[in-house]
Amino acid sequence: MPKNKEPIERFSRSRRRFLQSAAAAGIAASAAHVVRGQSASAQNSVPAATSSGARVVVDCRRTIAPLERTLFGSFLEHLGRAIYEGIYDPGSKLSDSNGFRKDALNEIRELGVPIIRYPGGNFVSGYDWLDGVGPKSSRPRVLDKAWNSIESNQFGTNEFMAWCKAAGTTPLIGVNLGTGTAEQAAALVEYCNVEKGTKWSELRRQHGVTEPYKVENWCLGNEMDGPWQIGHMSATEYGLKAADAARQMRDVDPSLKLIACGSSGPFMPTYLEWDREVLEQCYDYVDGLSLHRYFGNTERDTGGDTAKYLAMNLSMQQQIAETVAVCDFVRGHKRSPKKLWLSFDEWNVWYRTTTGDSVNGRMKEAPHLLEEVYNLEDALLVGGLVNSLLRSTEHVKIACLAQLINVIAPITTSSTGLFRQTIYYPYSWGLQFARGATLDLLVESPSYDVRGMDRVPYLDVAGSFDQGGRKVSLFLLNRDLSKPHVVEVVWADQSPSTVLSSWVLTGDDLKASNSFAAPRRVDPQPQPKPATTGSKTRFEVQPRSYSVVQWSL
Ligand code: AHR
Repeated sequence: MPKNKEPIERFSRSRRRFLQSAAAAGIAASAAHVVRGQSASAQNSVPAATSSGARVVVDCRRTIAPLERTLFGSFLEHLGRAIYEGIYDPGSKLSDSNGFRKDALNEIRELGVPIIRYPGGNFVSGYDWLDGVGPKSSRPRVLDKAWNSIESNQFGTNEFMAWCKAAGTTPLIGVNLGTGTAEQAAALVEYCNVEKGTKWSELRRQHGVTEPYKVENWCLGNEMDGPWQIGHMSATEYGLKAADAARQMRDVDPSLKLIACGSSGPFMPTYLEWDREVLEQCYDYVDGLSLHRYFGNTERDTGGDTAKYLAMNLSMQQQIAETVAVCDFVRGHKRSPKKLWLSFDEWNVWYRTTTGDSVNGRMKEAPHLLEEVYNLEDALLVGGLVNSLLRSTEHVKIACLAQLINVIAPITTSSTGLFRQTIYYPYSWGLQFARGATLDLLVESPSYDVRGMDRVPYLDVAGSFDQGGRKVSLFLLNRDLSKPHVVEVVWADQSPSTVLSSWVLTGDDLKASNSFAAPRRVDPQPQPKPATTGSKTRFEVQPRSYSVVQWSL
């Protein structure tokens, strides 16, 4: 289909071309650029006195910020097999009477994902939400130009809201600011959030939903800085459109929390400049700014060097720091009392399925797109990214692992079941064990040289303190590929009484992955519960591992 091949090729070509030209100009998110000078300070690390031991000082009086549950959200886009065959499959024996896949629902409910971004992604920039509501038999089959796929519209806003309720999660709804207007965005807010008596709220009631959904968090478009985006525009144009949409949406519901589109990542030539120009137009009307980032163990980013790859989470922190600086700059410029927060609403590893048939649906329904197979080293980096998010709670209120099912995801389904990809585990530990507030840890660690970077600590440690539940959790990435490290935890104010959990994700083969045939090839193992003597706990972390230990105080 030559006519429809073009948009997708433009998508992948554009991104590639950007990466190449940005790298040539020295402004890409190369590891050298993004990591230099902040490897140690990013987590209050200082070089350790010895070459093999590490020390972590825990002082529960010293916290960074409260940890919003929404820090570990996720993302479901109308893309590939995320919705159709992922969470919604009415023809399947595994589905309930709503067509919701019961096994996927259970898995997501068990994970406890607090917030899920929907319906895109690139998809949202061409989406007419009216196509996805009302009687299913009258909904149009539409060509989704973002992914060159057929969208049947059998799953839309009301199905998503019902699914969220069943999954025990909350929605983060994206509005179309590509082909869509501010008026259409406000109409969707009215459809979702107004109880009755208006055009759009009555339409919802006519569609069988009496109670309003009261959706709180909304994304004002998606990656509008990218030439691959349907409706791509300049920063000033987008900033004005976002301000207009925000005003109209808030006229309908003043309680909304609105997130403007920030840069699609440091690889963009307009990185940070875009954010500044956008915020100059809409700062007063929004609450948050989005960041996106995908990592890969590629020739360009890491030279295929795992030791470097496992340090890439530090560049996520640099991206956060740089974006915070821009928000603060505009705030100062405007003399605004308001401080914006960040929504890191797309983050993950994604580098194998970025071109050709992996991003081109060839006008099919539910094509296999972006079906990345994750290995152990990807999971270790995702552990590092979880740590970096934990250390960023002062600024990041919402973050979404992109995505949740089948599409660059921790869960993969087939017609007969599902399995957990390697990255499932570090993400699930963040959800399960990170509670309360993040700890301002002092970490002393031996470090190693990586080409193009400052010395990188072997040990990357983040922690949380749940004051109500009297629990401390530590999350430890050992970047050393060959050696274990002894960690000494020094309890500065109070010592723990019991170890509640102690798990490790590791293995001999960094390239090992899970599959339907071998679903537990990479699987977390319980590790010995470390003993505490006086105010010190000593234990060993295995090479190339990500661990979590939770204590009760
Ligand atoms: O998550 C996959 C895609 O990555 C999203 O649709 C887009 O926002 C980003 O480029």
